Amino acid sequence: MYMLSAPKLLTDPFLQLPTETSVRVVWFSEFAGDGHLVAYGENLAQTVFAKTTQLSRVREDQKSRVGEQIEDGQIYKHPVKRDIWRHEAELTNLTPGKRVSYRVTSVMEDGKTVSSSIFTLTPSPPPNIPLKILLTSDHQIKPMVAANLQKVVETVGRVDAVWFAGDLVNIPDRASEWFDDNRGNGFFPCLQGRAKYAVAHEAGENIYTGGQIIQCAPMFTCIGNHEIMGRFEREKGLVDEFNDTIPRKFAQKLYDEDSLDDKSLDDESLKNNSFNSDTYEEIFTLPQSQEGDKTYYAITFGDVRLVVLYATRMWRFHTTENGRKGKYAEPEESLDNPEKWGYGQHIYEPISKGSTQYNWLKSELDSLEFKQAKYKVVMLHHPPHTLGGNIVPAYTNPVQVVTSDEDGRTKEVRYEYPKEQDYITQDLIPLLEKAGVQLVFYGHSHLWNRFVSPEGMHFLETSNVGNSYGAHYREQKRKSLPQNSDGSADVSYVETGDPYGLEPVVPTIAPMVSEDGEPLPYISSNEITVFSIFDTGSGKVSSYLFDTRKPESEAIKFDEFELK
Ligand SMILES: [Fe+2]
Repeated sequence: MYMLSAPKLLTDPFLQLPTETSVRVVWFSEFAGDGHLVAYGENLAQTVFAKTTQLSRVREDQKSRVGEQIEDGQIYKHPVKRDIWRHEAELTNLTPGKRVSYRVTSVMEDGKTVSSSIFTLTPSPPPNIPLKILLTSDHQIKPMVAANLQKVVETVGRVDAVWFAGDLVNIPDRASEWFDDNRGNGFFPCLQGRAKYAVAHEAGENIYTGGQIIQCAPMFTCIGNHEIMGRFEREKGLVDEFNDTIPRKFAQKLYDEDSLDDKSLDDESLKNNSFNSDTYEEIFTLPQSQEGDKTYYAITFGDVRLVVLYATRMWRFHTTENGRKGKYAEPEESLDNPEKWGYGQHIYEPISKGSTQYNWLKSELDSLEFKQAKYKVVMLHHPPHTLGGNIVPAYTNPVQVVTSDEDGRTKEVRYEYPKEQDYITQDLIPLLEKAGVQLVFYGHSHLWNRFVSPEGMHFLETSNVGNSYGAHYREQKRKSLPQNSDGSADVSYVETGDPYGLEPVVPTIAPMVSEDGEPLPYISSNEITVFSIFDTGSGKVSSYLFDTRKPESEAIKFDEFELK
């Protein structure tokens, strides 16, 4: 439908799941084709065929910006399935530390072939080799992503890996956000140097291409709230479907009662009636754990043991205005219909003490691979410490409080989030401290800030990539604090600063300053974009800023700290 006369691939190839002697090459096309292969090695003399699958849930809708559609509903009036095929080849018998050339080719049904450019790949690096790892998150097709990634390449050259702390796109089942949003800043275009996105500044605008990064460097990702879709095909648009998640427990309750036989919902229909991360899981080939598949896992990459958690929850508005499902309550309009409730900011995968994920993490932290690693890093989406807004309320299962009148009719449905039951603060962080984790890396609030615990564990949120959602510091107060049942503010929360008691660290090299000239311990900007690089040779994590108002300028290193 979108294909021009000259055949082309939907993406460049990218690297996934490196082992000591192998790596996967993945790419996408809009045709099933007759065969797909990778040529690699000296003179590209070796070839290996790819396995092809079709993405099962990707669609376009009224709000897509794709093809000729530049305004809502011009072409798509409702969600329409889009046919996209994924090709994956496993290249084996590679030599650790040796980089080789590769190129992918897809053969179309009519015999025409289409090939990528030539890139390079290498299997997982051996220990004691210095690596540069890009730390990024929260792209969500936001305005500064292409500039950010272009500056990564201009500043540090080729990186050896990308760690992506969640929220890759906005609406995961909207295909164009991944592949070909017509504003020029889709996920793959930005990370593959094929973006074309204009950022305005005083003297005009600058077009950014993103960076050619993941063609040559494997990417490890974790699940953020924007990797999750809600109940399948019940709504008229993909944004509404994205917002239509409910906990599995309530899905079971709501839909089991409807079914005639007494069987519980099978996995697929349970997913369709609650939430799923299928598109994310279909796109990426990640390391897996037995318990969490690819939703949480651990991997050794050079001198680093990277532990990736599934720690994210539904995001909801803080009021129920206009019939919105709220963080703290259900709107009046739907009080008599539990099927329409949002169930607050429910957590997708338990991480509390005793949960399957927690127990897996405990055994991972006890493993030889973890203990012997020079660097121990944990990546998750939800912030344990931040000046951002999204850390409030507590990361805990919403406690539903239903009030009824004398006739038994529901008068109010509220949600409370007891701070003393915050799973991240109470259960997770003590475990990580004890295990000697040096760095906890996360996103979600779209700003840069960092913290150090009294025991010396570093916390970094480097998520001011495409835009910012603000920092709550000094007079910039959080708006959506929880309330007590009598409507008074819950004073266990602070309106500014980190609700869990750490002071943000002022950048060590070149902090931004307030109007009064005071150095600021954060960057929160829609004009300045930030990225961070972990250099495993020096153990240093360096953060750089680029001011899009000065397109000719270079990125400036403004902060550095060392993992010990
Ligand atoms: Fe998020």
